[in-house]
Amino acid sequence: MVKITALKAMQILDSRGNPTVSCALSTPKGIFVSMVPSGASTGTHEALELRDNAKEYAGKGVLKAVSNVNSIIAKSVVGKDFFSQRELDDFLLKLDGTENKSKLGANAILGLSMSFARALASENNIELYESLGNSAGKKSFSLPVPQLNVLNGGKHAGKENDIQEHMLFPIKFSSFAEAIRAGAETYHVLKGMLKKKFGAQATLLGDEGGFVPPMDSVEQRLELMLSAIKEAGYEGKIKIGLDCASSEFFDGKKYSIGSKPFSAAELSDFYASLVDSYEIVSIEDGMAEDDWNGWAELTKKLGKKIQIVGDDNLVTNTGRIKTALEKKACNSLLLKVNQIGTVSESIWASRLAEKNGWSIVVSHRSGETEDAFIADLAVGLASGQSKFGAPARSERVAKYNRLLAIEGHASGKIPFSGKSFPFSK
Ligand code: PGA
Ligand code: ZN
Repeated sequence: MVKITALKAMQILDSRGNPTVSCALSTPKGIFVSMVPSGASTGTHEALELRDNAKEYAGKGVLKAVSNVNSIIAKSVVGKDFFSQRELDDFLLKLDGTENKSKLGANAILGLSMSFARALASENNIELYESLGNSAGKKSFSLPVPQLNVLNGGKHAGKENDIQEHMLFPIKFSSFAEAIRAGAETYHVLKGMLKKKFGAQATLLGDEGGFVPPMDSVEQRLELMLSAIKEAGYEGKIKIGLDCASSEFFDGKKYSIGSKPFSAAELSDFYASLVDSYEIVSIEDGMAEDDWNGWAELTKKLGKKIQIVGDDNLVTNTGRIKTALEKKACNSLLLKVNQIGTVSESIWASRLAEKNGWSIVVSHRSGETEDAFIADLAVGLASGQSKFGAPARSERVAKYNRLLAIEGHASGKIPFSGKSFPFSK
């Protein structure tokens, strides 16, 4: 049982220098602080992120959300006992009462939901990942295959009509520490190659810590990644994945990469050609968030061969996951806690995906903080994969360091998920 003795939220900054919510929950055991992330290429069906739209911070202030925590929410929960994550989250869902958390704001609700998870773990004297695993009914844990976003494009790098993320998947390793070492070494080889080819400017970092070279051709970027993998000595052991974030280059009728237009069928063919040539094992948001026919076509074409990850179309929402299941629209869930707004709903989304044989990727947002909550979530849910950006910038590295600490402290008792990665020959 967790007794809430005080609750205080405040406005802090995220990794882009935009305001976000931090929430401190007090119990007789201590004070439990959480920080809420924020996306840039957000799905329109995400839970509402409440912003002030006032003069301060160019409209991006979150003082309304902070005030909702400190007034409405605090008044309702302080002095109360909650026995489980579900009980607390159900209480918050009722208090908000809207479909998309527009009354209180998902950013107001999520901070408390995460802080409560920490308080619950402390109450039971166990690690956060164990406690989250218990809340999800998990019997065993695992360390995720990290998806490392090493080349940033699209909205994360100030580019139009562009593939957003090019990621290394270090799969064929026996521990998380080995996988992250191989990924970081390859990242540095890539940096050296870019510097040689284009000069130091090409090694400046995008929002998620990847490089932003002056290369418009997707094929050339993938070619360079394969060369870096080879030069680093990890040929065949590190594969490649893309997050196309294609809602950003879909105008309702056609897709455009650079100046080249594509129908959904042509785009599927384009992806298939990339898969054949560049050791691609995963494509996220290959189609736009509401283009269900496009999704179904892509999954039909490539879903037996590679992972088709749903992000903007699913928004970690069980209702949208059910639609995707009916339409056979993807085979993998990207799980972002702030898309849905509570820890419990994130757990339900992961359970539904798992029950239907999908893989699960626990993901950061492009606007992050030093809070490493999602590292524990990935281990606790035994998701098998994580997506926390490049092995650079402390808001990304905080998550990798937490995973290294979990693996190190468990002394080999928590397995690395490389062997169970789907579609890796
Ligand atoms: P976002 O990007 O946080 O800007 O939405 C991450 C992603 O698309 O996966
Ligand atoms: Zn995405």
